[in-house]
Amino acid sequence: MSDQTFYVTTPIYYVNDAPHIGHGYTTVMGDIITRWHRQRGEDVWYLTGTDEHGQKVLRKAEANGVSPQEWVDKLVEEEWKPLLKTIDIANDDFIRTTEQRHFDGSKAFWQDLYDRDAVYKGSFSGFYSVGSEEFVGDDDVVDGEGEDEGHKISKLDGSRVEHMTEENYFFRLGDYQQKLLDFYEANPTFIQPESARNEVISFVSRGLRDLSISRSTFDWGIGVPWDDEHVMYVWVEALLNYVTAIGYGDDHARFEKIWPASIHIVGKDIARFHAVIWPAMLMAAGQSVPHQVFAHGWLLVGGQKMSKSKANGIRPDEIVDTFGSDAYRYYFARALTFGSDGSISWEDISARYHSELANGFGNLASRVAAMIGKYFDGVLPAAGEQTDAELSVVDIVAESVRDADAAIEAVAPQDALAAIWRIVDGLNGYITDQAPWKVAKEDPDSDRLATILNTTAEGLRVLAVLLNPVMPKSSAVLWDSLGAETALGALADQRIDAVAAWGQLPAGSTITKPASLFPRIETAAE
Ligand code: MSP
Repeated sequence: MSDQTFYVTTPIYYVNDAPHIGHGYTTVMGDIITRWHRQRGEDVWYLTGTDEHGQKVLRKAEANGVSPQEWVDKLVEEEWKPLLKTIDIANDDFIRTTEQRHFDGSKAFWQDLYDRDAVYKGSFSGFYSVGSEEFVGDDDVVDGEGEDEGHKISKLDGSRVEHMTEENYFFRLGDYQQKLLDFYEANPTFIQPESARNEVISFVSRGLRDLSISRSTFDWGIGVPWDDEHVMYVWVEALLNYVTAIGYGDDHARFEKIWPASIHIVGKDIARFHAVIWPAMLMAAGQSVPHQVFAHGWLLVGGQKMSKSKANGIRPDEIVDTFGSDAYRYYFARALTFGSDGSISWEDISARYHSELANGFGNLASRVAAMIGKYFDGVLPAAGEQTDAELSVVDIVAESVRDADAAIEAVAPQDALAAIWRIVDGLNGYITDQAPWKVAKEDPDSDRLATILNTTAEGLRVLAVLLNPVMPKSSAVLWDSLGAETALGALADQRIDAVAAWGQLPAGSTITKPASLFPRIETAAE
């Protein structure tokens, strides 16, 4: 392993509105992946933040009768930062594009592009979508129908476009077509999954035009360093957050240690910006390109992409208030395939909560602790000789840990959880087969009872460690109930590569019954 940091980012979110679970989804997945890598002992940096400039935010502030600065300050403090607490995110940094470090870094980067002759002045005439803050080619514009009658619409995402003619600065994106295609070819995992990669390659293969990268008809943005009549096009400015947050322009050593990003996690709607414009900008500035852009699918509600503008946006706290943040995190990681679109529903959340979390996992933890309490006064007994049944548990654990780790490496948290759940199911099956309550009655003097309960407690130790990146709160409760802190240290310090080694919980540890990890929830579907 190099001493390079494992650097993970989410998109920075527009603060035109409050967050919904689509934003929460990306942020939770990034959090699970970074927490897992931390427990592998890697040096990790997890960045998220907010994208505060541009016309979309400006217009929203105007519609609400406040200045854009007042608007973004209020939304970031009251909505976006609290979201991280609601869904239990352990980010290392939060960047706002209205911060001085971002102004300074962005200007430095632009100056560098200018000095290298990657930018020139021209004039732009064409369509622009404020909804997606994107220039839309004439071929992608159609007449609107229904509610959009009388407006021009972008075929790309159905948003309304406006015609504009402006003097702009342009970035020589057209020069990068072949360089990008060569780069994708040489780095097959740069853009994943395959569907996103294919789409990006076919887009670039069709040809790239130079990109207008400044705006001169409003001033809510960062001024172009050599021309204060212009502000930076919001996308080009926003992408720079990934470098301005880690010292680009003012802390060279820090920047060198963390850059390039290991993985930019984005929704597929913005894969092109990250896999085409961003690497071209970095190449133009002589910087290294990120290792990977991972484009995940959309959360669908009632079959449609969930979004605020369609009024089907669900707030994360609507789910967390009922099921808790652990179940929220578990659900999105387990029920959807990261990289594909997926439907979610309240009924499905409730069903998985009860069958997988309450009955499958929570019940296992409380039964084991209750039996150790009843038969051994809450003191973990030493295991006797292992039979085939115990050896099989040890095997399941070793294989699951290997598979889960490989799944995280492949950015497939759903497969990691499926692998971990083989331990949950394996332990439940083992208890049913071994029937410790029967052994206690029929063969109380043998060491079988001790062996069975020691084996299940060890299994729970492994589960606490493996589930900590996904469900930190219940994992901490479980760790505590196993008395593991005293013998093994903090849960966060347990290493994935050492977790499967058997017999770590020392005999004599105090086992207490945990508070119910996932209490039954009686609320009806809403
Ligand atoms: N500000 C830009 C990103 C700049 S990054 C340099 C932006 N912001 S956004 O607020 O619109 O957020 C887009 C991101 O939110 C998506 O890429 C995705 O990560 C997430 N999602 C928003 N709606 C979503 C769904 N319905 N489903 C899944 N994720 C979604 O674009």
